[in-house]
Amino acid sequence: MMAGNRFCLTTPAYYVNDVLHIGHAYCTIAADIIARYRRFAGEEVLFITATDEHGQKIEDAAKDLGLEPLELADRIVAHNKRVWEKLNISYDDFIRTTEDRHIKAVEYIFNALYEKGDIYKGMYEGLYCTPCETFCVESQVDGNNCPDCGRELKKLKEESYFFKLSKYREQLLTYYEKNPGFMKPSSRRAEMINIVKGELKDISVSRTAVKWGIPVPFDKKHTIYVWFDALINYLSAAGYRNDAEKYSEFWPANLHLIGKEIYKFHVILWPAMLFAMGLEVPETVFGHGWWTVEGEKMSKSKGNVVDPVKMADTYGVDVFRYFLFREVPFGVDGDFSEKAMVTRYNTELANDLGNLLNRTLTMLEKYYDGEVPQDSGSKDEFREMIEKSSEAIKGFYGRHEIGSALAEIMKIVSGANRYIESSAPWKLAKENDGKLKDVMYNITEAIRIITLFIMPFMPRTAEKMWEQLGITEKISDMTVDDTAWGGIKPGMKVNKGAPLFPRSDPNQ
Ligand code: MSP
Repeated sequence: MMAGNRFCLTTPAYYVNDVLHIGHAYCTIAADIIARYRRFAGEEVLFITATDEHGQKIEDAAKDLGLEPLELADRIVAHNKRVWEKLNISYDDFIRTTEDRHIKAVEYIFNALYEKGDIYKGMYEGLYCTPCETFCVESQVDGNNCPDCGRELKKLKEESYFFKLSKYREQLLTYYEKNPGFMKPSSRRAEMINIVKGELKDISVSRTAVKWGIPVPFDKKHTIYVWFDALINYLSAAGYRNDAEKYSEFWPANLHLIGKEIYKFHVILWPAMLFAMGLEVPETVFGHGWWTVEGEKMSKSKGNVVDPVKMADTYGVDVFRYFLFREVPFGVDGDFSEKAMVTRYNTELANDLGNLLNRTLTMLEKYYDGEVPQDSGSKDEFREMIEKSSEAIKGFYGRHEIGSALAEIMKIVSGANRYIESSAPWKLAKENDGKLKDVMYNITEAIRIITLFIMPFMPRTAEKMWEQLGITEKISDMTVDDTAWGGIKPGMKVNKGAPLFPRSDPNQ
């Protein structure tokens, strides 16, 4: 592997107070798609996912269930791992914030910043939101409810250690200006810059009332604030203070993928912590949008929380993965409904993609006994369209615009179906027209290219398509260079199988 050809990406560290829903699955699948593409592009990838196991929220949830916090965490972690397996998530590392390698890094950083004077002792008096695990600025609170989640705030007055966030105000602003690619999508920049330009207060980073956390190394009656602790998972998983070689290869991370509600922590607090430690800041923080369900916010009390495993079981894991990134542009909010998923399944997967493969293989069998014919090598508009789209797809993937990548792939699918209609191979066959060979070669080649590009979204489907195309090399050995026109070999025998997406009607 070439030096410098490495890519480190992360999902949030998910809380272990409850099971995962489609919102969490969305972020992790996005990371998986990007990780798979990067590997396909020949990069050495470190794909990290995590669980955030300390803090009041977990302490409270465990207590409600009559469990120790770690018992609850163990259960949820085992469950999460099964969910990720079901959703075909190819993570390289799953780090828990209760692991030793992480705790050591957090302790080290807390100590170092205290010694440096960037952490100091004070008194915190103000409001706290337990569901968000955030301290709220009183001037920004209307009544007694959290400005982010709307739930009731707690009044706190306790001795606390503070991190000198205010000291890094100018450095943050300069950093944002010099690194326009740091905050993505760019629509999220202005709000963050305004926050930093406003009153950036030092932040409380320890609690005395919370027992379930990493104790402050030099003052054990305090536990370290859960956000300070959790953010460091990115470093500890990348080898910081536990694997020097890995760390030098993979840090700074290239991409933190997170939801918009925790963007602030990642683009303000996190880089300031890294500045304070003299460590490099990740290249990009991408904040995706939020899913509602049939117009409503997902919540346990409303009983509308969607289980990703159920979706994968009912519709197929690839269909679910496809739908999430086809329905809504990556980065903005969207609304989830099974009805919309069924519609896309029938129109785009069964009709457009599935049928493209099926009808093409049927024609190859009929006209050429299942063999790919020798083409004349002439370049037509169809091939030009595909070559142009291929370049666009690589660009979208490279910029993490995966919704646009998928839309462009589906443009090739529609283009291929239109090409079949307009060139009417059945007529060419009747008329014994020599053009038939070119047309059949071109469509088969288009399907091969589609298969490779769609693989990060639908890995199993891509494997099945590959098998039906009859290509003997393994799809897992292919790289992005193989998306260049001309990979399909004349004389190759296709291997038509069952339709990829049989028509579905879940009401029957
Ligand atoms: N523990 C913190 C993150 C610490 S990272 C150092 C946390 N955990 S969480 O379990 O609440 O997960 C939050 C993430 O789940 C969001 O950032 C987002 O990626 C995903 N989502 C949770 N609900 C979501 C939706 N309704 N829609 C889309 N994604 C959502 O916050």
